[in-house]
Amino acid sequence: MEKHLSDLYTMSTYAIKAPSSHNTQPWIIFIKDNGFEIYPDFSNPLTIADNLNRELYISLGCAIENICLAANEKGYGEALTFILNENQQVNVRIDLSKGTANPSALFSQINKRQTNRSVFFDREIPDKEITKLTNLKLDEGVKHFIYKYNATEFNLIRSFVREANEIQLADDRYKDELLNWIRFSNSQINQFQNGLSYKTLGVSIIPPFLRKIIIKSQLKASAQNKADEKRMQTSSHFVLFTCEKNTPEEWIKLGRSLQRFLLQTCKMKIASGFLNQPCEVEVIADKMKDCLQIENRHPAILLRIGYAHPVAYSPRKQASSIIFNK
Ligand SMILES: Cc1cc2nc3c(=O)[nH]c(=O)nc-3n(C[C@H](O)[C@H](O)[C@H](O)COP(=O)(O)O)c2cc1C
Repeated sequence: MEKHLSDLYTMSTYAIKAPSSHNTQPWIIFIKDNGFEIYPDFSNPLTIADNLNRELYISLGCAIENICLAANEKGYGEALTFILNENQQVNVRIDLSKGTANPSALFSQINKRQTNRSVFFDREIPDKEITKLTNLKLDEGVKHFIYKYNATEFNLIRSFVREANEIQLADDRYKDELLNWIRFSNSQINQFQNGLSYKTLGVSIIPPFLRKIIIKSQLKASAQNKADEKRMQTSSHFVLFTCEKNTPEEWIKLGRSLQRFLLQTCKMKIASGFLNQPCEVEVIADKMKDCLQIENRHPAILLRIGYAHPVAYSPRKQASSIIFNK
């Protein structure tokens, strides 16, 4: 029994390494006799950038995928149940069963994966590798589209990213929310254990008296577009994840698929970063539906992939603040 509980605890700690929007880490995990209950954590929602909580549920799905990969590695198969609670929020129960495990080579990538915001090497991913990523099995309702550098769709997306930057960075509420999640110093990183650390944003420590000035000059569409243009120019492909019904259940499934995709790229030594702005802005998301051949599906996550040097890892919360026995 002791050993079983410690196995469950170890499995749940892999959730911590999952990606999440603004590194909010919006999950709470309860260890049960034979599995887990996983709740979305709505204590710090991104009400402006993610007004539907879609990215929150996608992040939750990424964490759930890590737990499932860890369970399979330990010899357990998993069955998921989606539970709608009284606040209309979706919780997930994972029931484990011994002997039905399907261990995956992706498990070993969980600790290595990272979001890379650097300028890439401007090197193309070979078609054979892209075919492998195209054929990756995704969850029901989830579909991804991969666009090569300079393809018509790639260039359309480039213009959508620019347009969305113009809209988001003209909105003071968006900027305030983003600023709230930037960690400018090591003491802030240690204090919060979440958010976007200055290291992962590729900048140096900014002393408090300079923050306002630098932020004023940098948090502008022109500066963001200049930086994004360099990132997009050196990307080999864009990857657009879409869903059919746009429901919390589907977003969780999209998160699970996204996480497998990210782990697979990591295994192939391919770097990945997010360019989500166009999916977050409703009018631009509608344009994506109209202009890209995505079968009227909902665009949800936009990645860029290519080759790059590794970057700094993001801070993470302590296990004791997110994992509980129930
Ligand atoms: C649903 C979702 C949306 C994200 N959106 C963005 C984004 O728009 N821009 C960005 O730079 N990173 C984005 N990220 C990456 C997170 O900021 C990143 O996962 C987090 O900071 C933790 O870092 P890590 O992925 O290196 O562990 C997103 C991640 C997820 C799961």
